[in-house]
Amino acid sequence: MLKEINETTDFLRKRTNFKPEYAIVLGSGLGGLADKVKKEFEIPYNEILNFPVSTVKGHGSKLILGELNGRKIAALQGRFHFYEGYSMQELSFPIRVLKLFGAEKLIVSNACGGVNPQYKIGDLMIIEDHINLMGSNPLIGFNNDKLGPRFPDMSLPYDKTLIQKAKQIANQKQFRCHIGVYAAVTGPCFETRAEYKYIRIIGADAVGMSTVPEVIVARHMGMPCFGISIITDIGGGDQLEAITHEDVLKVARTAEEKVTALVTELIS
Ligand code: HPA
Repeated sequence: MLKEINETTDFLRKRTNFKPEYAIVLGSGLGGLADKVKKEFEIPYNEILNFPVSTVKGHGSKLILGELNGRKIAALQGRFHFYEGYSMQELSFPIRVLKLFGAEKLIVSNACGGVNPQYKIGDLMIIEDHINLMGSNPLIGFNNDKLGPRFPDMSLPYDKTLIQKAKQIANQKQFRCHIGVYAAVTGPCFETRAEYKYIRIIGADAVGMSTVPEVIVARHMGMPCFGISIITDIGGGDQLEAITHEDVLKVARTAEEKVTALVTELIS
């Protein structure tokens, strides 16, 4: 795998000498960030050597290099999910490449279901810890010590300084913003009521279908991580309403401005 990572990093290096500070995965809630970036270089995923091939047709998946709030960033517009059929290694490959390309820190966003009874639809949640319920791990298989240790520490997956700073920014801006635990499941089903209940009991505040593989790989390579979630629906409890992907997208879009503002200030 290191061979492919190096190949892709060299491929990008031949096209630009840009060195990013931050790798940012533009998940739900950060899509609008792309418009705010002073772009220096852009390339569609399907033109990047060894990159996973996107299954979503006509989806503007691309790597954007540029400046945001005076900081150099590499933005991954469009993420790969486990439920789409990618392996854990495939979907986290871009994070590996961006680290070797120079990115020091990782920022990710996502949409998720709230299981903490205090959470409301549209709230933000800064991720302070996670529970991996995906039944797999991107580090399974041969470990290349050049990338990171066989048994990486996970006692502090999310950077404390970034969490505190983000919370301050959210408070200043008067956003409803919690600090909580994110449980990652494979999807693509939303959870049953019993599953939401279980996820709450084991100590999570929210549940979603992404982020954790990327963070594991980033931590494996020693990158400080920051994650922010948008609570797009409330799981469990006595709610009888069905959840649809459309509802999730609608709430995520509404919260997009808040997440974008928070992350833009966070990196300054
Ligand atoms: N569960 C899992 N993933 C999600 C949810 C949810 O309720 N909402 C948005 N992504």
